[in-house]
Amino acid sequence: MASISYSSLAKKLKGERVLLVGGAGFIGHNLALELRRMSVETMVVDNLMVNSLIENVYDGGDDPLRAGAYQSFLLDRFALMREQGALLHNADARLENDIGTVFHDFEPTKVVHLAAISSAVEARKNPGLCFDLQLLTLRNILELCRRKDERVNQVMIMSSSTVYGDFEGDTVDENTRPRPRGIYANTKYMAERLLRTYNHQHGLGTTIIRPSALYGERCRSRRVSQIFIENALTGKPLLLEGGGDGRLDFTYIDDLIQGIVRALALHGGPETSQTFNITFGNARTIAELAGVVKDLVPETILEERPRAEDKPIRGTLSVERAKQVLGFEPNWPLEKGYRKYCEWYIERWERAKREIGRN
Ligand SMILES: NC(=O)c1ccc[n+]([C@@H]2O[C@H](COP(=O)([O-])OP(=O)(O)OC[C@H]3O[C@@H](n4cnc5c(N)ncnc54)[C@H](O)[C@@H]3O)[C@@H](O)[C@H]2O)c1
Repeated sequence: MASISYSSLAKKLKGERVLLVGGAGFIGHNLALELRRMSVETMVVDNLMVNSLIENVYDGGDDPLRAGAYQSFLLDRFALMREQGALLHNADARLENDIGTVFHDFEPTKVVHLAAISSAVEARKNPGLCFDLQLLTLRNILELCRRKDERVNQVMIMSSSTVYGDFEGDTVDENTRPRPRGIYANTKYMAERLLRTYNHQHGLGTTIIRPSALYGERCRSRRVSQIFIENALTGKPLLLEGGGDGRLDFTYIDDLIQGIVRALALHGGPETSQTFNITFGNARTIAELAGVVKDLVPETILEERPRAEDKPIRGTLSVERAKQVLGFEPNWPLEKGYRKYCEWYIERWERAKREIGRN
């Protein structure tokens, strides 16, 4: 296993200029904060379309407590990025002229593509938009890099564990043949194929990251990790389909960010193409996730439900390659990472209650 100290990476990133497309979201703003901590010039481009303040103010308005809490998560992202000196540009990456102007002005050396409808459930409701946010934005970036910008030594995309489809065994690694199902997983897989094509045909340095089931402070995704703690705090049951035996490779955001930073700093430059699973590397059951909540909020109600027929079958994403090549070291098992996130959530929920005068 490679031993590469994390503190040595700032030196390797010296002089790089990193553009985060879709960077005001959950992963992007955390990455921006870490890159700035390492003194890397960082620009976030986002059209603030998904999980945005505007959506929150308009659609979250029927429950003032929830809307207030979510709004504070989103405002914190901007305040923190600003404090850390990340640049923010409001632009739509579907428009080549707009994103082209950003390339021209910022002159990135590395581009991380994060724009998407980042939920498979939401993507299914709007397949056309899913296609455009994932693939039109990526097309523009790839073309800008190919035609205009020889300075760019690496384009990285956030793919997804969903490219593997239903797992046949407990664990998949990067050599497992992808069998994506549904529009979200298929646009992710197409994005991967496009990246490899630009690598083979145009010598573009590329990296594909496959994350899974993220959670962490300031996330506003309404995925199971957020719904469970929020339901516990509002007296709603935590629903355990099939007794909660479904398994996911839950990953705390700090582990993903560590892996991404390693993959940015240790990339071999133009011509290099890499694919990494970056997860905690040990799938846990939904019942175990609920157990962490119950431990912190003893009055939590657990309710069993029959398993939905088309529920995806998932498991562990092996992170051996990332360990070997990048020295990746996941540090946050569920009991530590999810507990920390839940404690933060409880504190923020209480604060939001005080702010609207509810006890
Ligand atoms: N969160 C997870 O568990 C997870 C797991 C696997 C993969 N991913 C992938 O990682 C990426 C980031 O995920 P996230 O959780 O940060 O999602 P997010 O929804 O919080 O962030 C996505 C950001 O992209 C922006 N965006 C969308 N369309 C855009 C456009 N046309 N121009 C500019 N910006 C645009 C959105 O406004 C949003 O801020 C996504 O591609 C997602 O599919 C996420």
